[in-house]
Amino acid sequence: MAKVLVVTSGKGGVGKTTTTAALGAALAQGGQNVVVVDFDVGLRNLDLVMGAERRVVFDLINVVQGVAKLPQALIRDKRLENLWLLPASQTRDKDALTDEGVGRVIAELSPRFDWILCDSPAGIERGATLAMRYADEAVIVTNPEVSSVRDSDRIIGAHHRRYPRNPRYPVARHHSREPGRAQGLQCRLAGDAE
Ligand SMILES: Nc1ncnc2c1ncn2[C@@H]1O[C@H](COP(=O)(O)OP(=O)(O)O)[C@@H](O)[C@H]1O
Ligand SMILES: [Mg+2]
Repeated sequence: MAKVLVVTSGKGGVGKTTTTAALGAALAQGGQNVVVVDFDVGLRNLDLVMGAERRVVFDLINVVQGVAKLPQALIRDKRLENLWLLPASQTRDKDALTDEGVGRVIAELSPRFDWILCDSPAGIERGATLAMRYADEAVIVTNPEVSSVRDSDRIIGAHHRRYPRNPRYPVARHHSREPGRAQGLQCRLAGDAE
């Protein structure tokens, strides 16, 4: 059965999608069977970061709604044969993502993969909570700026309230101009999470 990991943050533009793709590739390079799932319905960026934007035919919502079967929507990475992508829909309504539907997709993916990595949308609304809903582990991506830290803190709180048994693994995004600050933040958040 797969481990389900959510990459989330609260704030947008902090590096969730990049982190999901990089973690997915690193795990796949290490021999694990990995699927990265884009929960950012409406925006859909993970396919672009993975270089698969021209290969998207069906998406997560199609599978949730029974329009397509899971194997029709899964895209195999061209470089790593054990890395797969389940893309998000660019156009459809976020309400199409139901708790029961997401549960079904995760249950169907689970026996086929070692890792299911969920790329969360920004915010604390439906899409973000659904991305967290089935996660065993969470990576919280943050930036060394107060608004990002506060939003991350809220996400950690929300995650902990909902799923108190699940571990959390905050990470700070490396800030090229101020690496020391980013590292300090990472230590602080890691300390909070323990
Ligand atoms: N570790 C990093 N260092 C510097 N820039 C990054 C890093 N991770 C992501 N970025 C850049 O930040 C922007 C937002 O990244 P993205 O992964 O789309 O964020 P999110 O999914 O949280 O909205 C992109 O331009 C991306 O290239
Ligand atoms: Mg994103």
